[in-house]
Amino acid sequence: MQKVRKAVIPAAGFGTRFLPFTKAVPKEMLPLVDIPTIEYIVREAIESGIEEVLIIINKEKECIRTHFGHNVVLEEFLASKNKTKELEIIKELPNKIKVEFTYQEEQLGLGHAVLCAYEFAKGEPFALLLGDDVYVGNKMPATKQLIAAYNQTASSILGTLEVPDSDVSKYGICKPLPNEKGTLLKLESVVEKPKLEEAPSNLAIGGRYILTPAIFDYLKTQTRGAGGEIQLTDAILRLMEKEAVYSLAIDGRRYDIGSKKGFLEATVDFALKRADLYADMRDIINERK
Ligand code: UTP
Repeated sequence: MQKVRKAVIPAAGFGTRFLPFTKAVPKEMLPLVDIPTIEYIVREAIESGIEEVLIIINKEKECIRTHFGHNVVLEEFLASKNKTKELEIIKELPNKIKVEFTYQEEQLGLGHAVLCAYEFAKGEPFALLLGDDVYVGNKMPATKQLIAAYNQTASSILGTLEVPDSDVSKYGICKPLPNEKGTLLKLESVVEKPKLEEAPSNLAIGGRYILTPAIFDYLKTQTRGAGGEIQLTDAILRLMEKEAVYSLAIDGRRYDIGSKKGFLEATVDFALKRADLYADMRDIINERK
């Protein structure tokens, strides 16, 4: 069985839910206090044992590339001022991992964005982490949980969370085979953004996947689906005719940073977790009660 060594992070979407901010700045660069969202996601990949990372961007999102590279002028400036702590902060991640980039020329949907990783994957299974979903609070990083499930099944794994009825039409929803029990379930089908009446369960795909390279055979020929977009979920449904696909309930708290409420919740929670900001954030909250 091939090891999961690579991760793909699609971050080429327009982020229309966060306009006007996203006109000039990618939503993946929204800061949770002082760290961009996409840095948390790259760190999750590294903490999960991933060795190579590819981020899919568009031509307007070069600042994501800048964030993961060395800024020599700034490094020299900080060194000349003896700002050792700041210097260490900006050098640590580029020294740890070399992030690769590729472009999605047209925003045709998530399935199309993943297809842009074909050359990078080189026939290996890979982790897929959406650029605006952040997980915290679990004992093991979300992607590491999925890799453990892949190592057990040698199959594609869809990380899931349980959503209320009011939200099923916003997600890809999984239908486990009858009699499947527990957190790791063999799937019968998946459906993208179903109406509540047509939703087979409340198990929503939550922005984390392990995919076998066979997915590319289906993405290459995938036609447009929900919302006129090339949907990854539709290609996964076709993959199921050839290979088993499982869902794994992710242990952890997820924040959808691409939604305003998710971003605000994450901002408050992440500040409360910081020793240097806890007291200030508590004061801010208490003053408004
Ligand atoms: P979303 O649907 O959340 O992103 O896709 P979006 O389309 O940018 O945002 P809204 O819905 O208009 O507000 C999930 C992830 O997939 C990427 C996005 O950048 C995001 O990280 N994506 C989406 C692409 O890379 N390409 C696409 O064509 C669509």
